[in-house]
Amino acid sequence: MHKIAVIKGDGIGPEVVNEGLKVLKAVSQLDGFKYELKEFPYNTDYYLATKKLPDDAFFEDLKKFDAILVGAIGDPRVEPGLIERAIIAGIRFKLDLYINLRPIKLYAEHLCPIKDKKPEDIDMIVVRENTEDLYTGIGGIFKKGTPDEVAIQEMIFTRKGTERAIRYAFELAKTQNRKKVTLVDKANAIRAMDIWTRTFEEVGREYPEIEKDHNYVDAACMWMIKNPESFEVVVTNNIFGDIITDLGAMLQGGMGIAASGNIHPGKVSMFEPIHGSAPKYKGLNKANPLAAISTCAMLLDYVGEKKSAAKIEKAIENLLVTKKIKSLGTDSGYSTSEIGDLVVNEIGKGK
Ligand code: IPM
Ligand code: MN
Repeated sequence: MHKIAVIKGDGIGPEVVNEGLKVLKAVSQLDGFKYELKEFPYNTDYYLATKKLPDDAFFEDLKKFDAILVGAIGDPRVEPGLIERAIIAGIRFKLDLYINLRPIKLYAEHLCPIKDKKPEDIDMIVVRENTEDLYTGIGGIFKKGTPDEVAIQEMIFTRKGTERAIRYAFELAKTQNRKKVTLVDKANAIRAMDIWTRTFEEVGREYPEIEKDHNYVDAACMWMIKNPESFEVVVTNNIFGDIITDLGAMLQGGMGIAASGNIHPGKVSMFEPIHGSAPKYKGLNKANPLAAISTCAMLLDYVGEKKSAAKIEKAIENLLVTKKIKSLGTDSGYSTSEIGDLVVNEIGKGK
């Protein structure tokens, strides 16, 4: 029995998560696995009505689950980042989910904005360190609003945090039979990032069979567009991982397909589409739920239902390759719930 906590969140979160759950139910019936859902109400509406944000008791409670599914968090009615930090960063930090795994996979050639790139050219996986860097919140603003204002946010790297992300990337390359790991940092300008360069070299020596490469982040952005086929596994720090995976999502055809896993291997982990809450589409049944559906596949893979996860991925691929679903945006010709139905139907065909 897989125990799954669900936070549908803000904006389009609830409607796309509902489609993910629809697909989860269908695949569980076909493959015969059991799961239990518990929904938690945290989002902006709940905050505005109750002033409640996740507290330590909630994070403790989450440890009883196998996985957490999050829709999207963010709403313009409150200060930017307030709810995101409390829920998303809260879960990442309190549960020590030190890996943010972000696959960048082109399902169908016509979705890629770069000419002549094929699915086999765009198939990389980004390992984003997820508990350090600019995200620790160390810093602040002094003399705010005066001509003498000072704003500081510290970029924190520890040997432990850097090493566990890098080691995870090499192990992932091994288990997925990928031949190369690329480190992305900016050690030429940010000399503290030498910790990444050195740790990568040291840990990399334990994996002689895997090719190593090193790009500064600016060049990495250039190469991801020019030669995406040169990347297999990418390992990078938190903020650069955040930035390059939005770029990566566009290589896949858009934010409407990009999934992610916030992982502490062996412990409860959190899965979320990387798109935002898109408030203007809230409740309109227009948003594309494929990213949330693909996120459910990642979650299933994590809890051990690998065959079911692969079925969902295959169904998404079939629907996109055949152009049954012709785009990843709101112009796909289908509503949110129709896309969920199409995926369920496609999975059923393969049984
Ligand atoms: C992401 C998001 C978050 C991040 C925000 C919402 C805090 O952009 O998951 O990529 O910066 O990590
Ligand atoms: Mn982001």
